[in-house]
Amino acid sequence: MKKQLIAGNWKMNGSSVANETLLKALVAGMASATCQVAVCVPAPYLAQVQGLVAGTGIELGAQDVSQHEAGAFTGEVSAAMLRDFATRYCLVGHSERRQYHGETDVVVAVKALRALAAGITPIVCVGETLEEREAGRTEEVVKRQLAAVIHANGHCISEIVVAYEPVWAIGTGKTASPEEAQQVHAVLRAQLRAATAQAERVLILYGGSMNAANAAQLLSQQDIDGGLVGGASLKPTDFLTIIAAAN
Ligand code: 13P
Repeated sequence: MKKQLIAGNWKMNGSSVANETLLKALVAGMASATCQVAVCVPAPYLAQVQGLVAGTGIELGAQDVSQHEAGAFTGEVSAAMLRDFATRYCLVGHSERRQYHGETDVVVAVKALRALAAGITPIVCVGETLEEREAGRTEEVVKRQLAAVIHANGHCISEIVVAYEPVWAIGTGKTASPEEAQQVHAVLRAQLRAATAQAERVLILYGGSMNAANAAQLLSQQDIDGGLVGGASLKPTDFLTIIAAAN
């Protein structure tokens, strides 16, 4: 059976001191974890966290990558730079990037390509807004977002991780019910099956107010292969409870 993945997305939180405290608590508490664990950290802390997670079983992740390979793109971080710090995962197309930084489906697809070319697994985020859900457009939206990535990445598509993050559930305390989430995950799985014979090995994570209380139920759904956890990943006890609920 494939191992589930629990990835923390710290977003724009942390400090040298806070990161060390958090990671020490995680390492001390996850000795019996059976799932895969990763933390996606702000770029300035990649070097620090690379050192703190070495040999612990926690994988290093980034939150974004440039669509460009190198050159005059002030403020951008390339996939090769992420790789320099042994970054294993990189979020692409998080809804906060799409919403606040104007990232289109095509840009997200190119970012996934850059990550894969550098040997980094992109965690491709898809999800509908509340307005889109209420208009009955959830399937159409997530399929359009994933289709762009499939189109650009061809046969490498089985190497990605997908994260379904309904925008209305992010940081709101509202969660998709396990059944609602499973329904969308099944749609995404079917779309992957049409693109690759390896669709079963692609991890599809759920994100959006996953917490210590709801993780077990969400993670027991057939097509939910892990979680992308925001707020709760900053609280060691809560994150460890989610890790313990995964397998
Ligand atoms: P919350 O878990 O805080 O809702 O955030 C989810 C998320 O955006 C993870 O990428």
